[in-house]
Amino acid sequence: MAQTCKKPVGEIQDAERRAFLTQTLALVGGCMCAGWIAGCETDVLKSSDVAVRFNVADAPALAQVGGAVKQIFEGQHGGEPVIIIRLSEEAFLVLSSLCTHQRCEVNLPGEGDPQIWCECHGALFDRTTGAVLRGPATAPLPRFESAYDRGTQILTIQF
Ligand code: FES
Repeated sequence: MAQTCKKPVGEIQDAERRAFLTQTLALVGGCMCAGWIAGCETDVLKSSDVAVRFNVADAPALAQVGGAVKQIFEGQHGGEPVIIIRLSEEAFLVLSSLCTHQRCEVNLPGEGDPQIWCECHGALFDRTTGAVLRGPATAPLPRFESAYDRGTQILTIQF
């Protein structure tokens, strides 16, 4: 009669419990990581109660559609500049100038240039949305909410 090696029931349950816990922790960790990454990727719109008024007439480069300027608003965005781009007669895009790869300051896009370039490692962002066009950056440039009053030429930016 052949001998069979059977583990006691208690040992099997311990091994299954360990395997279950290991798999559960790995799954929870993976979900948290995925959620964090997804959160970063979708956290495009910055918004707070701080509203800053910017007179577009003070920036001649913004007189034409397609114009862009870098602007520092004291006490906002950590003292780092934002990029303001005129998308149309009545619409502006306000983006952080800090690359989402390693926080280098991206270049101001030239007139007619469809991309915003980060010369540190070569990332490219869409100048009409801030979306990543080429890595190594994986997240878009954060965008700040803004509203333009054509009558007064005041662009109100939410930080
Ligand atoms: S910091 Fe911009 S590409 Fe690396």
